[in-house]
Amino acid sequence: MNATSQTDIPVRVTRVDTIAEGIVLFEMRHRDGGALPAFTAGSHISLRIPNGMVRKYALCGDPAEHERYRIAVKREDQGRGGSVYLCDNAREGDEWAISAPANDFELPQRGDNFIFIAGGIGIAPVMAMIHELSNDPAKKFKLYYCARRPELAAFRERLSAPEFKGKVAFHYDDGDPDKALDLWPIVEERKNRAHIYCCAPHGLMQAVRDATGHWSPAAVHFLSFADAPSQRPDDTAFRVKLASTAELIDVPAGVTILEALRARGHTVPSSCESGTCGTCRTGLIAGKADHRDLVLTDDERQSQIMLCVSRALTPEIVIDR
Ligand code: FES
Repeated sequence: MNATSQTDIPVRVTRVDTIAEGIVLFEMRHRDGGALPAFTAGSHISLRIPNGMVRKYALCGDPAEHERYRIAVKREDQGRGGSVYLCDNAREGDEWAISAPANDFELPQRGDNFIFIAGGIGIAPVMAMIHELSNDPAKKFKLYYCARRPELAAFRERLSAPEFKGKVAFHYDDGDPDKALDLWPIVEERKNRAHIYCCAPHGLMQAVRDATGHWSPAAVHFLSFADAPSQRPDDTAFRVKLASTAELIDVPAGVTILEALRARGHTVPSSCESGTCGTCRTGLIAGKADHRDLVLTDDERQSQIMLCVSRALTPEIVIDR
């Protein structure tokens, strides 16, 4: 799935609620009534915004509910415009077109113990996951939810309900790195074959990745649905060579390898487009990559690259296409 996913399900916005500072919850139902396609926790939809953009949003409602979908959108001033448009303009009664749900982050069926580390709007997909787990008495979880201040924490009231007592810990750091969540006591030992899911700003995901180096990579999962670009101000242009045809493709600053390939007519599978799902994994044959994903292990980084976020440290890289 990618940003051009078919958005052919007509829905009507049935509720618009500000649920934290800068975070708006949208509820939608099928325009013609009846059930929407079923989804599993971790799913996202693509939404064709009335201004023409297509953006992906995690479903944050209970997967057991089939009449409505819910998404939580953080107004990202530095984003690509989708969240600002929705937060400022969308109203109850609006009609949208969405795709069927897709899921790159299914909870493992055989897992019984889960640790969630969410930061900011990263709580959205985690909400669907804890709903799904709460429906099964055999499953256990603990959620650590980080935000700068309580007012910025979405679903705070819901997560403070008695049913989540002992299962949810809020952590507020005032934006002070010295007050960041201490990850070590959480990840020091992998107990009960637990799986960790982290959905947070890049810095917290990187910290979780660094702190879980002794865990099996199969037990540590990262999710991202950010509307923010992955580029950095000091990015420079480079060239990608396709090993199969020797075709040379320029990748200017501000453009991802994925976008540059598509602009030249290549079809490249993708999903999260934020370096967390693994869909765009590609062989790296020559040159040095500037890896910006949270998927590849240090060993894999020698011979693979994620085309949606990573760049080059050498003027040219050769990829296995
Ligand atoms: Fe998900 Fe690139 S599309 S890692």
